[in-house]
Amino acid sequence: MRKRVAVLISGRGSNMMALVEAAKDPKYPAEIVLVLSNVPDAAGLDFARANGIATEVVDHRTFGKDRAGFEQELQRMLLAHRIEIVCLAGFMRILTADFVGQWQGRMLNIHPALLPQFKGLHTHRRALEAKVKQHGATVHFVVPEMDSGPIVAQEAVEVRPDDTEQTLAARVLDVEHRIYPLALKLLAEGRVFP
Ligand code: GAR
Repeated sequence: MRKRVAVLISGRGSNMMALVEAAKDPKYPAEIVLVLSNVPDAAGLDFARANGIATEVVDHRTFGKDRAGFEQELQRMLLAHRIEIVCLAGFMRILTADFVGQWQGRMLNIHPALLPQFKGLHTHRRALEAKVKQHGATVHFVVPEMDSGPIVAQEAVEVRPDDTEQTLAARVLDVEHRIYPLALKLLAEGRVFP
């Protein structure tokens, strides 16, 4: 049985698209059955609808400071769709330890840097400022601490002398679209553990 996967997004959704494309192969061990966004007009939602995938919106703004209420609604949606694996893909909300605990070993995140380097935001700008020779992307199990957790897949790109934030981001994004489908495959096949 293919694993039932939800992809959580907040915007463009290009990593979600890469997962959807990979899962079109009937031999792929997971199917993307739900795309969930905390942003009602996230561009990625249109792609999901056009591909016949169920979409849900849980707008964090309607919950104000009630983080538990927001997460209860997320969890309700995930259970309603009988989700087995959650992929965070540009989902820009920090999740509490309670929520993360409910998905321990079953939730992945992609981060645009070679973790443990450059946790947090603006990773490409910070990589250029730090003058690192290599940068990249990482897929990891989600743990309560942000951008931490056991690494499932990681790939480096070279940083070129003439790189801008945009050119570097584009090179890293290519890597993201390759390693996220690979990491999800490994998890869905039970070949990686937190
Ligand atoms: C991706 O580069 C992803 O790695 C990053 O946001 C972008 C989302 O793009 N995630 C983070 O920075 C999480 N801390 P996408 O919506 O096109 O997949």
